[in-house]
Amino acid sequence: MPIEKTLSIIKPDATKRNLTGLINAKFENAGLKIIGQKRLQLTKSIAEKFYEIHKDRSFYNDLVDFMISGPVVVQVLEGENAVKLNRSIMGATNPDEAEQGTIRKEFAESIEANSIHGSDSLENAKKEISFFFADIELVA
Ligand code: CMP
Repeated sequence: MPIEKTLSIIKPDATKRNLTGLINAKFENAGLKIIGQKRLQLTKSIAEKFYEIHKDRSFYNDLVDFMISGPVVVQVLEGENAVKLNRSIMGATNPDEAEQGTIRKEFAESIEANSIHGSDSLENAKKEISFFFADIELVA
C-alpha cells in the first residue's frame, strides 16, 4: 500500500479538554506517525480561508467561529493509506453516526464540535498540508 501524508487538526473542543495526547495515541496505535505538529490559535481570516470550500454552506460562519474559539493542534500524519486510515480512526462527521472506538464517537460533543478534522482525499491532503506546513517542518 502507498505511503501517504494527511493533514489532521485537533479542534478547540478537544484541546480545551486536554485530549491531545489521547487522540495522538489513537493515531500512533493504528500505525500512523506524527511527522509534524504545532499548536496554533487560528485567526478568523485563516479559518475562513482553510474552510473556503464550505463557504456556501449554512454552517460556514459557525464553523469558522468555532475553529477560532480556542487553540488547535495541526499535524501531519504519515503511513500506509494514511488518508483513508485516518478517516476510519476519526469516525463519521456526526458523532451519533461514528463507530465505537473512533475519535469522534469517544470524544466529539456535536457535529460542529467534533474534535478532529482530517483530509478527505490525497489531493486535498497535499493542499491542506502546504496550507499549514513548510517542508522543513516535516520530519519522518
Ligand atoms: P470537518 O471535517 O472539519 O469539515 C467541515 C466541518 O464542518 C465538519 O468537520 C464539521 O465539524 C462542521 N459541520 C458543522 N455542521 C455541519 C453539517 N451540518 N454537516 C457537515 N459538517 C458540519
